[in-house]
Amino acid sequence: MIQTNKEKSIVFGLSTSKNIASKVSKISGIKLGEIITKKFADGEIFVETQNSVRNKSAFVIQSTNYPANDNFMELLLVVDALKRSSVGEVNVIMPYFGYARQDRKVNGRQAISAKLIANMLTVAGVDRLITFDIHSEQISGFFDIPVDNLKAYGIIAKEILAMNIKDLTIVSPDHGGVSRARSMAKLLNSPLAIVDKRRVNHNEAEAQFVLGDVKNKNVIIFDDMVDTGGTVVSAVKILKEHGAKDVFLAVSHAVLSEKDGIKAEDKLKESGIKNIITTNSIQKPKNDFIKMIDLSYVIAETITNHINNESITDHFIKKYNTNL
Ligand code: R5P
Repeated sequence: MIQTNKEKSIVFGLSTSKNIASKVSKISGIKLGEIITKKFADGEIFVETQNSVRNKSAFVIQSTNYPANDNFMELLLVVDALKRSSVGEVNVIMPYFGYARQDRKVNGRQAISAKLIANMLTVAGVDRLITFDIHSEQISGFFDIPVDNLKAYGIIAKEILAMNIKDLTIVSPDHGGVSRARSMAKLLNSPLAIVDKRRVNHNEAEAQFVLGDVKNKNVIIFDDMVDTGGTVVSAVKILKEHGAKDVFLAVSHAVLSEKDGIKAEDKLKESGIKNIITTNSIQKPKNDFIKMIDLSYVIAETITNHINNESITDHFIKKYNTNL
């Protein structure tokens, strides 16, 4: 392991995460590096770092949201450029880790994209990965390098507590998210309910029944991400049928894609969701409907812990009440 400190470290923000990187640099006091990114006429990406990184600890911040392929390729190219410039170590920070949903074969003849992404990052030369609320915990085991899967839900829980919502129940919109929702319910000291979701088609889900009592309760649907909004809209419908009062949505990652010409945000508003509480792992324009918690501070804290050789787990337990 290389010895590092602020002077021997450098932060880079790629296309999706320039704002976060510049805040992280200000908070941590670590120099913000510059990278030139261009596109050739055929769509190929060209990158060039503008700073010497010789024997330094580089922290490269990039979420791999839309356009996922371009953003991921840009990240790989930057890691390659850093390795070829004699960097000491490459720490990649992916506030949002795209391609994580395909973490197993649901049917035969499918790819496991999360494993392929892990292989590609490792082959490119990444030494350590830091991410937030990755779709499933076992993905960290797809890597043979250290992975810190930071729990944004501890930070989201603080925001929810400040909203002071009475008679609150936390709802997992599917079975896959139960343990995540249970952790959130525990942090908020609230009961838990579960929606039974079936995938009816690719990118299309349907709620079948609710497990637990939501009658006359204010509920927060808690998930790792909202994409087209289909999962949430069908959960809201069934929760309302079961007597839920106000319904809020809390997600670590606001992917919010458009499907069949309908924007996810419009679909969610229409469904009766009061507010979305999320993070800026994916940058979106500010508005009253989406409450966005800035992850810059916690990223800066994590980098600082790392370069000072201090425990990230202990810090999270102490400050956010969540284990890593
Ligand atoms: C699925 O397992 C995920 O946790 C989300 O529930 C899902 O990806 C959300 O997608 P959509 O908003 O398109 O239903």
